Amino acid sequence: MSASTSESAPPLAPPMGLIAEMTHRCPLRCPYCSNPVALDRAGDELDTDTWLRVLDEAAALGVLQMHFTGGEPLARRDLPLLVRRAADAQLYTNIITSGVTLDERMMARLIEAGIDHIQLSFQDVEAANADRIGGLAGAHGRKLAAAQRIREAGLPLTANFVIHRQNIARVPAMLELAEALGASRSEIAHVQYYGWGLRNRDALLPSRAELDATTATVEAARARLKGRMVIDYVVPDYYAARPKACMSGWAQRFIHISPTGRALPCHAAESLPGFTFVSVRDVPLADIWRADPAFLRFRGTAWMPEPCQSCDRREIDWGGCRCQAFALTGDAARTDPACALSPDHAVMAAAVAARGEAPPDFVYRQFSAADPVG
Ligand code: SF4
Ligand code: FES
Repeated sequence: MSASTSESAPPLAPPMGLIAEMTHRCPLRCPYCSNPVALDRAGDELDTDTWLRVLDEAAALGVLQMHFTGGEPLARRDLPLLVRRAADAQLYTNIITSGVTLDERMMARLIEAGIDHIQLSFQDVEAANADRIGGLAGAHGRKLAAAQRIREAGLPLTANFVIHRQNIARVPAMLELAEALGASRSEIAHVQYYGWGLRNRDALLPSRAELDATTATVEAARARLKGRMVIDYVVPDYYAARPKACMSGWAQRFIHISPTGRALPCHAAESLPGFTFVSVRDVPLADIWRADPAFLRFRGTAWMPEPCQSCDRREIDWGGCRCQAFALTGDAARTDPACALSPDHAVMAAAVAARGEAPPDFVYRQFSAADPVG
């Protein structure tokens, strides 16, 4: 395919998924949280009527999947109502939750509303370490109870484990736990280093040997559990030769909506300077998807610099992650430094080399020192 602007723009399909970041409120304080460092306050969140309208607009646009996430989406009392509206509009509904507030009553309300799937996040398999990483005593036990509730309700369960140097040794036990819980899918996903994760990088980045051992564990488990449990595996960019296709390409498959209603091509887009992100309060979702300048900025391949512009992987990984490129080079339009072909690739090796023998203390996610819970 030619790299010219007119020929390289992909045909515009509807977004596959809408990721609704309902709230930044959360009972946990994970030091790798994917929420922005500057968190939205509860009083600024979209109201129920606006969310209901956005769900209708998503269905009309051709969205297939609704992912309700946060923060902790269960902190929104209207979540069952929103799930019902999405289900009535024939959208596939998924909740991504810490599970610590998923009691029997809420489970029943979500089932009644038509929820299709729940992803439950775990910090570790050792309760004390899991609670330390999440910053909430007793959280792990409540997650185990939530997992049981999900399975008893007959829902498919995905067990999410975010891994890093302070829990990576227990990946074999994580996979055993997922199997014991009856999960149909398990995600062993390394921390992504933006926002809070980047702030805590030295406390989280594993060694190459730890990563290699984990990869071997996952491959063996995939063979053993074939047909019973799917295992998704995400490795850290810092040891990669090619980047991941972040968000399956900027503004190509997903729309992300922040708690206050800003429409974003990815969860970290607000870290990029020079962008104005419009709100779904003011602009219809279809107009944002088709023509919003922030969505057009890195869609397709026309924006790409070399070496991406003449690379045969440019429509496979779409040049990697814009937010990582900005975080590590100061320019969102450069090739992702995770790529070994990038002129900036050495920053990855430098970060690995700078990693101390002992991890420093975590900087936990919080709203502010004066008002930690928002
Ligand atoms: Fe991907 Fe660009 Fe690297 Fe090619 S040069 S592999 S398109 S990041
Ligand atoms: Fe923003 Fe990857 S997180 S493009």
